[in-house]
Amino acid sequence: MPVDPPPPASLPTEGELVELTVGQVAHGGSCVARADGRVVFVRHALPGERVRARVTDRSHDRYWRADAVEILEASPDRVAPPCPHAGPGLCGGCDWQHASPPAQRRLKAQVVVDALRRQGGLPARVAADDAPYGGAPRDDAAYDAARDDKDAPGLAVSVEPLPGVGGDDGLGWRTRMRFAVTDAGEVGLRAYRSHRVVATPDCRIAHPLVAGAVAGRRFPGAEAVEVAASVRSGRVSVRPDGGQDVADGHAGASEEGPLVERVHGRQFQVDAAAFWQVHPAAARTLVDAVLAALAPRAGDRALDLYAGAGLFAAFLAEAVGPDGEVIAIESDAAAVASAARSLADLPWVSVRPVRVTARTVRGCVGSAGGVDVAVLDPPRTGAGPDVLAALLALRPRAVAYVACDPVALARDLAVAEGAGYLVDEVRGFDLFPMTAHVECVARLVPAGS
Ligand SMILES: C[S@@+](CC[C@H](N)C(=O)[O-])C[C@H]1O[C@@H](n2cnc3c(N)ncnc32)[C@H](O)[C@@H]1O
Repeated sequence: MPVDPPPPASLPTEGELVELTVGQVAHGGSCVARADGRVVFVRHALPGERVRARVTDRSHDRYWRADAVEILEASPDRVAPPCPHAGPGLCGGCDWQHASPPAQRRLKAQVVVDALRRQGGLPARVAADDAPYGGAPRDDAAYDAARDDKDAPGLAVSVEPLPGVGGDDGLGWRTRMRFAVTDAGEVGLRAYRSHRVVATPDCRIAHPLVAGAVAGRRFPGAEAVEVAASVRSGRVSVRPDGGQDVADGHAGASEEGPLVERVHGRQFQVDAAAFWQVHPAAARTLVDAVLAALAPRAGDRALDLYAGAGLFAAFLAEAVGPDGEVIAIESDAAAVASAARSLADLPWVSVRPVRVTARTVRGCVGSAGGVDVAVLDPPRTGAGPDVLAALLALRPRAVAYVACDPVALARDLAVAEGAGYLVDEVRGFDLFPMTAHVECVARLVPAGS
């Protein structure tokens, strides 16, 4: 087994303090600094800052991890974290509590751009209105110049805020949470890269309905507690270890049945165990972005891959009308049941309860030829080259790729560009304020169209 060489005497050992000048943002909520030529991923810091950092992990040969524990020169983007559990060694649920919400979005735009360029090989830059931030030193001068030039070629990426939750404070938005449980039975979240559970009964990003459902309660013996709230109806489901609902304090005592969600006047009945977007404004924001990207027409055949409870399929069906067709593919039984219930008034939608694979994508239209438009919204790992190739072989005139991991997205977009499609737009959305997560919607069109 390879063993890292011991560090030179001049370098800090684990737990020691080191002074760093913090550079660009990295994927996952850290910034990049250098110590004696070695990369250090620093949390709780911002680009351009001078910090004293504690080394938390030097088990890797090529990079270390550190926590900024003292800010010597602060970025203008720095704010006091609104959550008492945020900070070095504390809750690992959030990454950017110490940055203002607009600064968080600029950091995320930079992360998306870096992924598009590095993993996707695509020309991209942070949209001029969002750049620059904090004066971070970068290695790539041409990239910096492009980023600051309004007329520079390439995809201009920004991350848009979501409307309507407590202004733009980034708090109180999360309607679905999987809490860990402390030895004392309190709900909590794990410390960063650790199994240690930090009690967070007053989690500040939790929606008030979620926070209210766990306030003052203990769940002794549970590994986890899953809480899902419907803002519209006020209904909350609380399921220790994903089992029976104990929202009212007794197993089985709470209101039965799915959670009711409403998007643009349409009702969805979603099982607590099925996927649903966790920010109250996310579903409608993504629907709008997908419809804008695809411009579906009456009579179109549309494909919705990884369809969940049928969110996009429903609005595609309304757009294509009864002379059109929507094929939705989803493998999770709870999501399929939720979609079947919610789309019963749209009989030109067929929900296929199978896994998305190259074979099921090829087979879903039978011998009837291609599709006109398609949306795909895969899990974090992305769709992968085979599924993407099968989808593009159906020659849709537009594809909306909804992605929660910009690196997986960028890899798949590179495959699409190799298959005769062009990425002509990538929009970012701040669906997960305070965290390093960012949602993107990319549009693909046939090259030359
Ligand atoms: C990010 S969610 C998107 C759901 C939906 N588009 C929405 O916005 O509500 C991804 C969905 O893909 C489903 N899924 C994951 N892997 C799958 C696979 N291989 N085949 C089909 N569905 C899959 C999950 O169950 C989940 O419902």
